[in-house]
Amino acid sequence: MPVKKRYLKINGVERLFICDPEKDSLADVIRRLGLTGTKVGCGLGQCGACSVILNGEVVRSCVKKMKNVEDGSEVTTIEGIGTPDNLHPLQLAWIVYGGVQCGFCTPGFIVSAKALLDKNPSPTREEVRSWFQKHRNACRCTGYKPLVDAVMAAAKVLRGEMTMEDLNFKLPPDGRIYGTAYPKPTALAKVTGACDYGDDIGAKMDGALHLAVVLARVSHAKLLSIDTSEAEKMPGVEKVITYKDVKGNNRINWPMQHARGIGDGMERPILCEDMIYRYGDIIAIVAARTREEARAAAKKVKFEYEQLPEYLDILDAMAPDAHQIHKNFPNIFIESPLLKGEDTREVINKSPHVVEGSFYTQRQPHLVLEPDTDQAYVDDEGYLTIHSKSLFLGLIIWTIADGVGVPPDKIRTIQNPIGASFGYTLSPYTPAVVAVAALATGKPVTLTLSYEEHQHITGKRAPSYSNARLACDEKGKITALEFEIAFDEGAYTEAADFRSMVGIRFMGAPYTIPNAMGLSKAVISNHAVTTAYRAYGSPQCLFCSESLMDMMAEKIGMDPLELRYLNVYREGDVSLNGHKFSVYPMAAILDKLRPYYKEAVERAKRESTPEKRRGVGIACGMYNVTTSANDHAEVALELNPDGTVTHYNTWEDLGQGADIGTLVHTHEALKPLGLRPDQIKLVMNDTGLAPLTGPAAGSRSHYMAGNATIDAANKLLNAMRKEDGTFRTY
Ligand code: FES
Ligand code: FES
Repeated sequence: MPVKKRYLKINGVERLFICDPEKDSLADVIRRLGLTGTKVGCGLGQCGACSVILNGEVVRSCVKKMKNVEDGSEVTTIEGIGTPDNLHPLQLAWIVYGGVQCGFCTPGFIVSAKALLDKNPSPTREEVRSWFQKHRNACRCTGYKPLVDAVMAAAKVLRGEMTMEDLNFKLPPDGRIYGTAYPKPTALAKVTGACDYGDDIGAKMDGALHLAVVLARVSHAKLLSIDTSEAEKMPGVEKVITYKDVKGNNRINWPMQHARGIGDGMERPILCEDMIYRYGDIIAIVAARTREEARAAAKKVKFEYEQLPEYLDILDAMAPDAHQIHKNFPNIFIESPLLKGEDTREVINKSPHVVEGSFYTQRQPHLVLEPDTDQAYVDDEGYLTIHSKSLFLGLIIWTIADGVGVPPDKIRTIQNPIGASFGYTLSPYTPAVVAVAALATGKPVTLTLSYEEHQHITGKRAPSYSNARLACDEKGKITALEFEIAFDEGAYTEAADFRSMVGIRFMGAPYTIPNAMGLSKAVISNHAVTTAYRAYGSPQCLFCSESLMDMMAEKIGMDPLELRYLNVYREGDVSLNGHKFSVYPMAAILDKLRPYYKEAVERAKRESTPEKRRGVGIACGMYNVTTSANDHAEVALELNPDGTVTHYNTWEDLGQGADIGTLVHTHEALKPLGLRPDQIKLVMNDTGLAPLTGPAAGSRSHYMAGNATIDAANKLLNAMRKEDGTFRTY
């Protein structure tokens, strides 16, 4: 490697280092110097997470090769903008305006905004937006408004029109923080670049081996042989791991819970054995001293395969003459029927208005900024310890224990600070991969996927095909619905049962439909695996039924909002799958919406021209809260000798704010003790230290973890309460 001595003035001080100017990027060098506040997301110049200021200009450091950076250049990273006890106004504004959710984009945005304000102290909101767009600063969580708000506020402070004190959050006089914009506890570390995400933790793990994966680049094949001999001789390689090295049964064990599901949920191997079921299956893992060495050796792993027909669309996989993809169950492996009320054919025949259509919804990637990253090691007490981006720490333990060959009670799972999930980290797959590698090598290991690998390996939203007909009476009241929906589950059955149930729960929601006949199918293909994604299965159904509602409104000449208003569930109505609503707020929501909607319709008419016609769309959505009727969550509260309270839970934080959620619930529930927020300590997302609170999914956390907190707080208060109503100390 042709390395060279170089120097840069980083954050005001000269730093000397050695690098390969041809190969190393500015981001590589900065991060190697320990300045891991600069994050690498896409690694391709697209997301802006790695932004730094180079000689006064914002650059995306991941694509700035060191050969193009002159010695002595001035570089400002997030660590040079401000520190926890001396924040820059931008950093404080980011905290106060809720600009930090997952926080992975935060350093890049703040650095970029600093360069903007250096050049233009009084930007307009439009100029702020254009700046971020020009510099490709992408945020997946916030929707950008809080970020623009933060820049505008920080600019005021810098111009002397407002003080830091004015900008800062102020506790209300009664000290109550529930329902306020009290800053999230993890925000400070995120705005200063001090927060270590998975790749940062991996880079700082003493003695850790770096992993690279060997991916299948075909979608369906018999795997005939794997040759690791050349890879094993590559520099720095410690071990090349195949399925033969897996100590357990090499399966993700995710049992089918659906009464009408066929298959045992054991078809997914951790490492390929004799079959490849999708592009992105992992054939081998290389463990080496450095990531570069591991990746170089991974290219030398050879395998032979015999190509099989690839079913990349479920219409092909469902055809009567299609090959069965998995040995033990048919391609259509779940069929959930639904029948409600009278014979729909008769009702539809008698109804004055009928619309019908066929719809497709596409596969969707979650497009988080941070590619998947996991670490694993056996800790000093003998626990197989796995760090990941998981949104369900308990699930990893149950689904991989047999596969990796460690009893569940000897597995500890920890959630790293994560650059968002939006559902994809429900899957326990990459945690299983690193666990296998840690056990096979006997050493700590770390894996960070490239963005391309991340796209191939991680789950996506399931595409769907649907056919449906909807009928209504003269006044627009729905009389019947018939539908069929098929979900493309990808190569494995993982979590498909739940989605199939969602298919018969949310088609036609949130409308009262007296008569219905439906069928929801889960189908295997050779495409990407599918997983949770916001509202898990319901958007696919709603796309179909909401499209039919619009078609019906047009057909009968009724306003689309009023057609919906007429039909939405009201108190006492019963859903398609028999749930009786004691309360349902959609009519009230539409009442509230109506004036805005009407105004928008009028404006669209006014502003339409023959060349450009404007329109207004409306759709209703619905989803359940919690995983099922028997959902549960555990938390623990402990009174400490100094009068503070520690809250232990595994309310996974995906950027949505499990930290602030935990804090405000605890503060509120323990109000009689009169604690300040800083007297509540949080110990979260480590199953070695905290009980299982369940998945951060199904819109359940605020409700489930919140109620568990109230329950725990009441128990603690009761234990502390004296007969005179005052409280015992520790
Ligand atoms: Fe550099 Fe995305 S632009 S990490
Ligand atoms: Fe911007 Fe998560 S807060 S990507």
